[in-house]
Amino acid sequence: MVKVCVIEGDGIGKEVVPEAVKILNELGDFEIIEGEAGLECLKKYGNALPEETIEKAKEADVILFGAITSPKPGEVKNYKSPIITLRKLFDLYANVRPINNFGIGRLIGKIADYEFLNIKNIDIVIIRENTEDLYVGREKLNDEMAIAERVITKKGSERIIGFAFEYAVKNNRKKVSCIHKANVLRVTDGLFLEVFNNIKKHYNIEADDYLVDSTAMNLIKNPEKFDVIVTTNMFGDILSDEASALIGGLGLSPSANIGDSKALFEPVHGSAPDIAGKKIANPMASILSVAMLFDYIGEKEKGDLIREAVKHCLINKKVTPDLGGNLKTEDVGNEILNYIRSK
Ligand code: NAI
Ligand code: MG
Repeated sequence: MVKVCVIEGDGIGKEVVPEAVKILNELGDFEIIEGEAGLECLKKYGNALPEETIEKAKEADVILFGAITSPKPGEVKNYKSPIITLRKLFDLYANVRPINNFGIGRLIGKIADYEFLNIKNIDIVIIRENTEDLYVGREKLNDEMAIAERVITKKGSERIIGFAFEYAVKNNRKKVSCIHKANVLRVTDGLFLEVFNNIKKHYNIEADDYLVDSTAMNLIKNPEKFDVIVTTNMFGDILSDEASALIGGLGLSPSANIGDSKALFEPVHGSAPDIAGKKIANPMASILSVAMLFDYIGEKEKGDLIREAVKHCLINKKVTPDLGGNLKTEDVGNEILNYIRSK
């Protein structure tokens, strides 16, 4: 039986994850182990990621994560983000973030606000390197300045770029684009781009590369230009939140953090303190992360059924306020569950 360590975290993590777990249990037989992490946990035990939670995560085959609230800068000494720690601990080097509107374009709630875009199909997958770059946490402060080290390794670049090409081949994607800033960061992104240019020769698939700043513009103006994107950690973090605006916001953006022997699934969004407690958070990103979990354990047909159920809810406007609807978190979870049961 597949063991799943479920970590709800803080804020809306506690609201959306139970809906995702409902779908998980409906479609499979899992052993669920619950773990605590986040700001509430820090206040309770003096540790945002207790050893006990790490042990549970180690024991599990996969992890289902909600979201955590970070303390304000300077508030907690030597604070380490639990999610970044988990990614590093299990070497979850590939962060896969699909940006997909299920081919129903502006039918999705508030996307009508972006009338000028005239977008029908958004189907982009951002593959973000997940262990290196500025997120290695090597920051120094002296009287004069603050310095952060940006680490890009050959091995790290090779495995994420190799992963992106393999992903593209397996999923019948047409193109892989490398996003970088090698014109300025000539050494670090220069290495990343060099590795990309070497690896692309081994694949019979279109490959190109763009600068990150113009990509930020083109994601909005010409999103059809992109298929699979592979990029470094921080650019991937920023571009994936930006791209989620094309499909109605973070409520629809799931992700998988994949390593060689473990994987963690989580919505891209954070704990959303502005809406936490109101029971209106969109559970779709968390539920779509469960679909990615099924893909990962080799049960893609169940993943597809979940995506079909979400699409059904979007078409029928069974959605939370972020997508222009008036349903509560739990109602959307139940709509998705009922659709799955009707199949
Ligand atoms: P956020 O992703 O929590 O929220 C950004 C905006 O999107 C807010 O207006 C929020 O209401 C909305 N939103 C997000 N998810 C939604 C959902 N499921 N349904 C409806 N609306 C949704 O980002 P923010 O506000 O910058 O960060 C809040 C906290 O979350 C911070 O402490 C941050 O450090 C943390 N964070 C944690 C992450 C994680 O656990 N992996 C990732 C990103 C942020
Ligand atoms: Mg982020």
